Amino acid sequence: MDRPILVTGGTGTLGRALVARLLAGGVSVRVMSRRPRRADDDRPCEWAVCDLARGAGLDAALADVRAVVHCATDLRNDVAATRRLTEAARRTGNPHLVYISITGIDEVPLPYYRAKLKAERLIQESGLPWTVLRTTQFHDLVAAFTTVQRRLPLVFTPRGVRFQPIEVTEVADRLAELARAAPAGRVPDMAGPEVRDARDLARATLRAAGLRRRVVPVPLPGKIIRSLRAGANLAPDRAVGTGTFEEYLAARARAGQR
Ligand SMILES: NC(=O)c1ccc[n+]([C@@H]2O[C@H](COP(=O)([O-])OP(=O)(O)OC[C@H]3O[C@@H](n4cnc5c(N)ncnc54)[C@H](OP(=O)(O)O)[C@@H]3O)[C@@H](O)[C@H]2O)c1
Repeated sequence: MDRPILVTGGTGTLGRALVARLLAGGVSVRVMSRRPRRADDDRPCEWAVCDLARGAGLDAALADVRAVVHCATDLRNDVAATRRLTEAARRTGNPHLVYISITGIDEVPLPYYRAKLKAERLIQESGLPWTVLRTTQFHDLVAAFTTVQRRLPLVFTPRGVRFQPIEVTEVADRLAELARAAPAGRVPDMAGPEVRDARDLARATLRAAGLRRRVVPVPLPGKIIRSLRAGANLAPDRAVGTGTFEEYLAARARAGQR
């Protein structure tokens, strides 16, 4: 059996899809999570308990891996966690480190994006063999912007902001390919098939959930919104994703989720 690929965040939205892709391709996988494996999880993979915010268990998680796909994210700790991961990887065999990042993080001054940019730089300067893929927002995140407001009488969207959401399983396919290939540095961004206004995406989400609400675009001030209005979160020249937002919503409705 080949040496495993470690997937940090292997229990998350992207991580779960990636683990499924790797296993389907006959790759040995080790999932990292802060929690022990659930009793009903019968996927044929190894499991490593580790909290990247503390580091206990990290060397064991990295032992004898050929690559690491770093999908774990914690809104407050991504820089420290990534530093800890790269330092431990240097100590334990220099595996290929593949990082998932976000389109436009150098232009949109959100604190989370600044942390992702710092994490990218840590990886690039770590001395490890590395690959970084940036993508636009996954469909589920864009749908969540609306579903979190479902109990309100109106749904608000930022006026003039557009998104180009992408199907997470397509991102997982690409990461699985990158993790098995030679380190490639910063690879071209991956974006969804359509650039859509936030209001239009909110209406589609409501329609698919059978909810009737008025969608109200709100003019918001500030640098973050200005950069989003200018399209810094989009990559229309990299619209390589094929799964549309409506296809995602329909699949979600079939699975009984709203
Ligand atoms: N969502 C998007 O639209 C989008 C778009 C582009 C890029 N990305 C990037 O894709 C990555 C994955 O996003 P996602 O939406 O799949 O995230 P998610 O569903 O929120 O999953 C986060 C994962 O991180 C793990 N985690 C959190 N804190 C941890 C810690 N201290 N130590 C170890 N593991 C920890 C969690 O594992 P446990 O809870 O099991 O410990 C979980 O598996 C992120 O880097 C994100 O920036 C996301």
